[in-house]
Amino acid sequence: MTGKILVNEEVVPNTHRLVLEAPAIAKRAKPGQFIMIIPDEVGERVPFSLSDWDAEAGTITVFYLEAGVSTMKLGRMKAGDTVHTVVGPLGRPTIIEKWGTVLLGGGCYGLGAIYPLAKAFKEAGNRVVGLLEARTSYIVYNEDKLREVVDELYIVTGDGSAGIKGHVKEALPQILEKEGKIDHAHFVGCTYMMMVSSKGTEPHKIPTIASLNTLMVDGTGMCGVCRVEVEGQTRFACVDGPDFDGHQVNWDLVFTRKRAYVAEENLAFQFHKCKQDGAILKEDRAEKEVA
Ligand code: FES
Repeated sequence: MTGKILVNEEVVPNTHRLVLEAPAIAKRAKPGQFIMIIPDEVGERVPFSLSDWDAEAGTITVFYLEAGVSTMKLGRMKAGDTVHTVVGPLGRPTIIEKWGTVLLGGGCYGLGAIYPLAKAFKEAGNRVVGLLEARTSYIVYNEDKLREVVDELYIVTGDGSAGIKGHVKEALPQILEKEGKIDHAHFVGCTYMMMVSSKGTEPHKIPTIASLNTLMVDGTGMCGVCRVEVEGQTRFACVDGPDFDGHQVNWDLVFTRKRAYVAEENLAFQFHKCKQDGAILKEDRAEKEVA
């Protein structure tokens, strides 16, 4: 189905909040699930983690970084425009139980995507400890919204401009020491962050979920592009995941597969950008000539 764009705003540099009219998805969405969007008729299918939804209003929200051709196209669309296709909800919902204290970490788009998880873990009776990781303070977003549903929130910035200085690798031991007992951990964001976090909780024997963001094509278990290895078994992130035991994921394979089309993606991105810049230049010239 198509999806009318209600909001498409850049919340911090290079990160957008997209609100779409998608009543059928909003009615069935569960924490941990994702959608796929095809921005236009010649576009590819791109997965996005659901960051919020409103079943009554029939709307869904995702956050995305402009990182390739499709997200660049999306970034140029405005409220009132329509995305060619939106499909979902996809993937298995996150298992929400009362574990005790849950550490919930997000980076990149994960700063938005951990919100429904935080809400659900809280409603299930857990103490929820949030962790937001970013390079610097001015690209941290969604903080206020998360504070409404977490018991404690740690900000971690690479340059130390807010919260704990460093990467999640440096911050995790400090947070674990301060919090004492963590019963369950869940991470959403870039692959490196999820790998480092999973490796950080392993010696403490904290059950840890990583929400894998692999390359995907169909998102329904047919193409095999999203395959990963978990506990030595091949699994499909789109239908068996996206949640997997972070201690059992073959991270080397995840990285290798994610890098498979980097050269082609970069080329396509540069080509598309040149085309766009050329079109903008043409428009400017035409406007100047009219003036
Ligand atoms: Fe095709 Fe998962 S994306 S099998």
